Amino acid sequence: MDDDGGIPSSGMEEDALFARLDSYRGNDLDTKGGRTWAYVYDPGRADIDRVAKRALVEFYDENALDPTVFPSLLRIENEVVGMARAHLRGDDDVVGNFTTGGTESIMMAVKAARDRARELRPDLDHPTMVLPVTAHAAFHKAAHYFDVEAVSVPVDTATWKADVEAMAAACDDRTILLVGSAVSYAHGVVDPIPELGRLALERDLLFHVDGCIGGFILPYVRRLGREVTDFDFSVPGVTSMSMDFHKYAYTPKSASVVLYRDASLRRYQLYAKAAWTGYTVINTTFQSTKSGGALAATWAALNYVGDQGYLEITERTMAAVDAIRAGVDRMDDLDVMGHPESNLVAMTSDTVNVFDVVDEMRTERWYVQPQLGFAGSRENIHLSVGGASLQLVPELLADLASACDTARNAPTPPADEEMVALLHSIDPATLGPDEFDLLLAGAGIGAEPGAAPEVPDRTAGINAILNVCPPELAERVLIEFFNRIYVPEPTSGRTDEVAS
Ligand SMILES: Cc1ncc(COP(=O)(O)O)c(C=O)c1O
Repeated sequence: MDDDGGIPSSGMEEDALFARLDSYRGNDLDTKGGRTWAYVYDPGRADIDRVAKRALVEFYDENALDPTVFPSLLRIENEVVGMARAHLRGDDDVVGNFTTGGTESIMMAVKAARDRARELRPDLDHPTMVLPVTAHAAFHKAAHYFDVEAVSVPVDTATWKADVEAMAAACDDRTILLVGSAVSYAHGVVDPIPELGRLALERDLLFHVDGCIGGFILPYVRRLGREVTDFDFSVPGVTSMSMDFHKYAYTPKSASVVLYRDASLRRYQLYAKAAWTGYTVINTTFQSTKSGGALAATWAALNYVGDQGYLEITERTMAAVDAIRAGVDRMDDLDVMGHPESNLVAMTSDTVNVFDVVDEMRTERWYVQPQLGFAGSRENIHLSVGGASLQLVPELLADLASACDTARNAPTPPADEEMVALLHSIDPATLGPDEFDLLLAGAGIGAEPGAAPEVPDRTAGINAILNVCPPELAERVLIEFFNRIYVPEPTSGRTDEVAS
């Protein structure tokens, strides 16, 4: 029978099907074991994963679309939000909702700020939010979706922290929201939240603190006796916060929370629609139908690990951070950027192309994350350190040192001046599909017409080009690239395993 790429006429056998799925994972990063220093989070305890995933599966089918018919989910969410509120020193007025991730939490906070401004300041046509250049891209995505202008403000390039005076200068009568990070992803530092809180109060602005990656771990870092700037609801002026569970609470993915100083602010996040022919819609977040799985898994992880358990994991994590920083300080080729205050470390270099180092590490089965240069922050290598990292630090440092040696001896040539000038002369808005094909080919990720491009094993060349591209051009190139790799294809090899 012809295979037209549709759903197979008779189904595959279960074992064959899982074998095939598993075979697709050949080039995936390891999610456990500690060799992947971005995207995935390993506490170094398999039991947490087991317990959380059991809850995930048990509640997978329940639908948080309507908490009146699945009251368990309402109760679980309120208990999870209660734990988050206490963790971030919120009082009894603080409320919030469980979301699918940091981006959704941030988007909800921006939407709430916009809708509140629409109600209270109906004459304000073009609201702005003022944020440091180090704030996560999710704020720009929210600005884009909700038509709020994002005003990016340079940071202090010695500390990588928000410059409060510059942020004050960027505020005007269109500003509705200030943003600070605790911690920022790129450099792992806490912005001056108390000073920004004062600014918010003086100017009568909302103030969101993004604790997506730092909010859960920082209270434990403080309890270990380390200096941590106040960043939570104990700071006057903070009106909303985001904090992810699927990072350093080590829950399965799709788990975050957005919190507001009180319910009068959260009200603007909610959405209801009665004017259509179907069931009444009332949503707390983006999704309407949503599985109860990640929520139940979060509840299970928090209750199973417990406060003491998270403190112990953080102690191991910070010991790994100290060992990495000391080891990198001894290396000639790499320098830690700024003074990381939590478990994220960025390293740059005067002597080697950091993108080559990333590629070399990949050949030794490590994933360390390349970050492009922007706004004075040079291109660098980013490490997200976690509970499984400590025992791997000596091997990581040794492999980083030899990756630097190799990178020094066989460097990818940096983009030359002619190339840089060419890239800066291009107006991304005027480029058509053919020009994008040429640009993708120039970046080493081209393909025959009609074929999907493949990501090469070594990415130093692409990163070197993206690093000198104007960001608007890089964004367009990346969109074109994704537009070409997401193409439907038939399930490979399935016909020979179709059940009889
Ligand atoms: C500071 C910060 N904010 C927001 C996010 C976005 O989180 P997510 O990827 O869960 O949407 C991240 C992700 O790393 C982050 O580090």
